[in-house]
Amino acid sequence: MDKTTITLHTAFQIGTVDPRIFGGFLEHMGRTVYEGVFDPKSVHADEDGFRRDVLESLRQLQMTAVRYPGGNFASGYHWLDGVGPREKRPTVRELAWQSIEPNHFGTDEYIKLCRKMEWTPMLTVNLGTGSPEEARNWVEYCNCKGGTKYADKRIANRNETPYNVNLWCLGNEMDGFWQLGHVPADQYAVRAQQAAKMMKDTDGSIELVVCGSCAVGMSTYMEWDRQVLEYLGDYADYISLHRYVGNRNNDTADYLAVINSIDRQIEQMDAVCRFVQAKRRSHKRAYLCFDEWNVWYKNMQIDGGGKFAPHLIEEIYNLEDALVVAGFLNSFIRHADVVRIANIAQIVNVIAPVLTKGDELLVQSIFYPFEMFSRRRNGISLRASIDGPSYESKSVGPVRFVDASAIIDEDCLHVFTINRSSDETADIQVDLADRPIDSLISAEVLSGPDAKAANSFEKPDVIKSRSFADVKTISGQASYELPPLSIVAATFKVK
Ligand code: AHR
Repeated sequence: MDKTTITLHTAFQIGTVDPRIFGGFLEHMGRTVYEGVFDPKSVHADEDGFRRDVLESLRQLQMTAVRYPGGNFASGYHWLDGVGPREKRPTVRELAWQSIEPNHFGTDEYIKLCRKMEWTPMLTVNLGTGSPEEARNWVEYCNCKGGTKYADKRIANRNETPYNVNLWCLGNEMDGFWQLGHVPADQYAVRAQQAAKMMKDTDGSIELVVCGSCAVGMSTYMEWDRQVLEYLGDYADYISLHRYVGNRNNDTADYLAVINSIDRQIEQMDAVCRFVQAKRRSHKRAYLCFDEWNVWYKNMQIDGGGKFAPHLIEEIYNLEDALVVAGFLNSFIRHADVVRIANIAQIVNVIAPVLTKGDELLVQSIFYPFEMFSRRRNGISLRASIDGPSYESKSVGPVRFVDASAIIDEDCLHVFTINRSSDETADIQVDLADRPIDSLISAEVLSGPDAKAANSFEKPDVIKSRSFADVKTISGQASYELPPLSIVAATFKVK
C-alpha cells in the first residue's frame, strides 16, 4: 500500500478533549448490575457486594461519566423502589426487558460505586411512565441538603452528604415506539420541559441532556431533534444521540467504513443544534451527548422470560469490532468541539468489554482500544490532514484505509491510527508541521490473526494489546508500519 501521511499543526486545533467522552453505561438489563458489578454472593464480592474482579478490570479503562439506570429500563423505573432498607424494597416485573427486578441495587448503591470507581454520576429520569415531579424529587433526594422531604429520606438512609449529581438525562430514546411511554416529539418536548424546569428549580447547577434521535434510520431523524431543541430552548444543555453498528453482511471492508458515517451522524446532529441556536437568536447552543454507542448485532436476545438477571445480549467481540470501537473514539476526538459526553454501552456482560461466567472474568477485544485511547485522552484535538490510499465501500463510498486522530498535550503528541486493510500493511508518517517530533514515549498495538479472531474463556489472550516499539523518529517526523487490521496508539515527545 502507498504511504499514508498524517500532517498536523498545533495552530489547527479542534478543541479540548472532554474526558467525559470516555464514559460508560450501567443499565438494569440482563447481568450488567446483578452478576456484573454487584454480586454479594460472589467469591469476589467486597464489603459492599461489588465484584472486585470486575471493578479492577474496569478501573483500567478510567471511565468518567457512567450513565444509570437505563436505557429502556429507565422508562419504567420508579427510583423510590430502589432506596431504603433492602428488605423492604419491592420486587417488580420489569417490562423493558421482561425481567424480574428486586431493587437490591438502587441510587445509594450506584453512588457508592461511583465514589469507589471515581466515576461521574449521570442519571436518566423516567419520562416514559414517570412524572416530571418524580424526576424533580430525585434531584432533591440526590443533591439537596437536609430539611425537606426527599433530602431527609437520603439522610435517613444514612447518606448525609449530598450526591451532587450534575448530569441528568431527560428520558431515554423517547422517539422509539418500543419505549415505555413513547410519544411524538411535541408531546415529549412538553413533558421534558416541565421536568427540566422543576429539576433546575430544585438545583440550578445541574446539566440536562434531552432525548435526541436514537438512530439515523428513524423516520423522524433530525425533525424530532429540531422540534425538541426549539421547544426546550435554553434548558437543553446537551442532546443525546445513540448508535449501534454491526457487520450484518459479513463484509469487513464495508463494516469498517461505518466509522465515516459516525462522523456524518455527529455533523448532522451538530447542524441541528446550530440551526436551532441561529433560529432562536440565542447565545446558548446545545452540545452532543453520545450516550449510547457500540457494536451490537450478533446477539439479539432481549426477552428476559420473566427471570432475574437473564443472559441478554452478551455479545462476543472480535478484532474487527475492536477496530470499529477505535473508530468511534477517533470520531469523538475529531469532533472534540461538539461531542462533550459519550458512553460506551454497556460496561459488563451486556454488549460489554468484560464478561463474567461464575467466578471467571473475560476481557474482550473491545476493551483494548478503549484502554489505549483513554490513557492518552488529555489535551487538545488537532485537525489531521490524512493523505493516503483509499478504497470504495458499498455503504459510504470512498474511505481511506487509515483512519486517525491526534491530541496535543503540551510536549506530548498522541496519535491514534487504524488500518482497515485486511491484507496490506500501512506505512504511516506523522508530521507535526510546526514542532519536530523528538522521540517515542510509548505505543501499543492491537492486531490479530484475522478479522473474526476473538477471546474466549478457554483462550483469553488471542486479542490483546502489546507494547509497540517499532517506531522511527527521524528528522522530526515519526514513521511506523501498521499491520493489516490493527490499531496503534502512540505518544511522542515533541520539541
Ligand atoms: O443498551 C441496550 C439498549 O439499547 C438500551 O436500553 C436502549 O436505550 C437501546 O435501545
